[in-house]
Parts: sequence; C-alpha cells; structure tokens
Amino acid sequence: MNVTVLEHPLASHYLTVLRDETTAPADFRRATTSLGGLLAVEATSGLTVAMGSVTTPMGATTGYSLESRVAVVPVLRAGLGLLQPFLDLLPSSAVGFVGVARNHESALPEQYYVNLPDPLATAIVLEPMLATGGSLAWAVDAVKRAGAVQIVCISVVAAPQGIAHMKERHPDIRIITAAIDEGLNDTFYIVPGLGDMGDRLFGTI
Ligand code: URA
Repeated sequence: MNVTVLEHPLASHYLTVLRDETTAPADFRRATTSLGGLLAVEATSGLTVAMGSVTTPMGATTGYSLESRVAVVPVLRAGLGLLQPFLDLLPSSAVGFVGVARNHESALPEQYYVNLPDPLATAIVLEPMLATGGSLAWAVDAVKRAGAVQIVCISVVAAPQGIAHMKERHPDIRIITAAIDEGLNDTFYIVPGLGDMGDRLFGTI
C-alpha cells in the first residue's frame, strides 16, 4: 500500500487552523476546503489524459483532455467537508455516498447508507479522520463491490493503527493524508488530532 503524507507549507498552515480548538465552524469549513484543494491536486496526479490538439488565438498546439472516469465518494458525514474541492477540480465526476457510523463503545463501523454510481472504475474515497481504519476499510469494501479497481483514499489526519489496518485489509490502495499522528485515545479519537471532524465542520459540538 502506498501512503503519501502531503508536504506543503499551505497544508501545514491549514492543518494547524483545523487543529486549533478555538477555530469556529465557518473558519473550520474554509480551512477544510483549502486543505482539500491541496489534497485533491495530489490525489489526481495518477489520472490519465489523452493527447490531442488545441488551437490558441496564435495557432495550433498539443492539448490534453482527462480520460479517467472518476467517482468521488465521501464517507458520511465528515467526508462531505472535502467534497467541494474535489468537485471543483473534477466537475464531471460522479458522486457516491457511504454512510458508516462508528459505535463509540466498540469502535466498530455500522453501515446506514450506501449509494454508489455504476459502473465505477476509479474511486477517490474521502474519510478525513483515519482512526482505527474500520470505517474506511468498510467503505473501500463497498466501492470494490461496485467495481472500483483504482482507489485513492484521502484523509486529513491518520493514526498509525488505521494505516496498519488498511495495509492489512486493502494493500492495493493508495492513501494520501496531511499528517500521521501519535495514536488513538481510549475512545478511539486521534491524538493530538483535531477532535470530532463532523462536529467541528457542522457545529454540532
Ligand atoms: N473521527 C473524528 O472525527 N475524529 C477522530 O479523532 C477520530 C475519528
């Protein structure tokens, strides 16, 4: 499994805004969108383009058009925070949804909604907090069942335990994250992390 930690001064800056406990939901959403744009550039680096030609006001030259058919799949609900920057770069993508809630006692994923496009070849799965890896592994199972063969998973913060779990369950995928943190606390939150991503995005704290 290929894991990329995004190294970019802007990524470090926006991640710090997200980590700061005093950041209000409106600023938290803006910083998530900005960081998402940087993650989206990295996530799309493997897409294929077809070479053709284009005519500028000065004459003809080589041009390229995107060939890959992509589905962007936010894991509900925190994944919604990253959706818009991906759609800004890939406006013709299909959007699938996977609803998995984490049982706070057992930390096991519980599915409550799945709606994926068909056929689905390349999937970008958005799961901002890769904690135990249970929800993401389950979401990747779902997109594989729907036919995805090339899968990139995007997280904002990952725990070593989640990465290890994904390596075991889905060694064929790529993970891109802005940080790998120390670990998990006894309620399976990432430490130092940024708290509950869904609550902070949607002001439900
Ligand atoms: N989900 C979150 O929102 N935060 C964590 O730290 C772990 C899972």
